[in-house]
Amino acid sequence: MIGAGTLGRRIALMMADRGGTVQVHEPDASVRESARRYLDATLPEVAAGIEGGAVGTVHLLDDLAGALRSAWLVVEAVPERLELKREVFAQLDAAAEPDAILASNSSSYATADFADAVSCPERLLNTHFYQPPELNAVELMSSGSTDPAIIDLLVERLPRHGLPTFVAHARSTGFIFNRIWAAIKRESLRVVADGVSTPGDIDAIWQLTFGTGFGPFGLMDRVGLDVVRDIERHYLAEDPTLDDRQLRVLEEYIARGDLGVKTGRGFFDYPPEA
Ligand SMILES: NC(=O)c1ccc[n+]([C@@H]2O[C@H](COP(=O)([O-])OP(=O)(O)OC[C@H]3O[C@@H](n4cnc5c(N)ncnc54)[C@H](O)[C@@H]3O)[C@@H](O)[C@H]2O)c1
Repeated sequence: MIGAGTLGRRIALMMADRGGTVQVHEPDASVRESARRYLDATLPEVAAGIEGGAVGTVHLLDDLAGALRSAWLVVEAVPERLELKREVFAQLDAAAEPDAILASNSSSYATADFADAVSCPERLLNTHFYQPPELNAVELMSSGSTDPAIIDLLVERLPRHGLPTFVAHARSTGFIFNRIWAAIKRESLRVVADGVSTPGDIDAIWQLTFGTGFGPFGLMDRVGLDVVRDIERHYLAEDPTLDDRQLRVLEEYIARGDLGVKTGRGFFDYPPEA
C-alpha cells in the first residue's frame, strides 16, 4: 500500500484478513500511528467475519523500498492530485518488483491519464475500493493497455477478501458508481449553496426516502471534505459547462479545518465515541 490515510489503512486491512502480509509506505508518522490503532482495533473482527479468515500482519513503514519488496500487488492511495499520482507511479515503476501489478485507488483519475509515467502500462490499472470493511465494492478499469489476465486475476482474488469486484468496460471518469455519486453530491451541495435547504434536512429527507442510515452529506463527511473538493476540482477541469458553486460550500468547512469524520467535525459532529 502507498499511503495509510482513510483508504490506505482500509485496503491494507482487507488484504491482511486471510493471514497475509501487507507492507504500507506512509511518510507521515502521525498517520502511521493512527493507522496502527485502527488496524489493531478492526482487523481481528474483520478476519473473524470471513470464511478462512485469519489475522495477518501489516507493516507500516517510512521506507518505500521496504514496502515494495516482494509485493505482487501495489495499490496507491495518496491524495487526489494528478501530478502527485504521476510522480508516485514513476517511483513505483522504477522500484517495484518487475512483475508487480501497479494499481491506483484514485476516485476520479483514469490510470490512462498517467500511463506515460510507467514503462509498462500493461501492468497498470485502476482498482477503486470504496470504504471497506463497511462499503466493500471494488471497481476495476483498464489503463487502456492493461493485460486482461491481470483483470481476470483480480476479479478472482479480491472477492476472497470479502470484496465483490466489478469491471468498468469502457473508460469513464468516476468509473461506475462514482460517476453517479458525483451527480448526487454536486446537486446536494448546490441546494445548500442556493440557500434552499441545509445538510441536516437533506440527509433527513434522503434517509426517509431511500431507507438508508446515511445521506449525501454524511457520506461526504466519511470520505473527507478535502478529498471531495479535490475530486470535484478534477470533474470541473474536465467539463467546462459546469459552474463551481458547490465548491464554495466545501471551502467554507475546509477553511475552518472541519474535514469530516477524520477531524471530528464536518457537516455534522462526530464525538470520539461515535
Ligand atoms: N476517502 C475516501 O472515501 C475514498 C474512497 C475511494 C477512493 N479514494 C481515493 O483514495 C486516494 C486517497 O484518499 P484518502 O481519502 O485515503 O486520502 P487521505 O488524505 O486520507 O490519505 C492520503 C495519505 O497519503 C499520504 N501521502 C502523501 N504523499 C505520499 C507519497 N508520496 N507516498 C506515500 N504516501 C503519501 C498522506 O500522508 C496521507 O496519509 C485518493 O485518490 C482518493 O480519491 C478515497
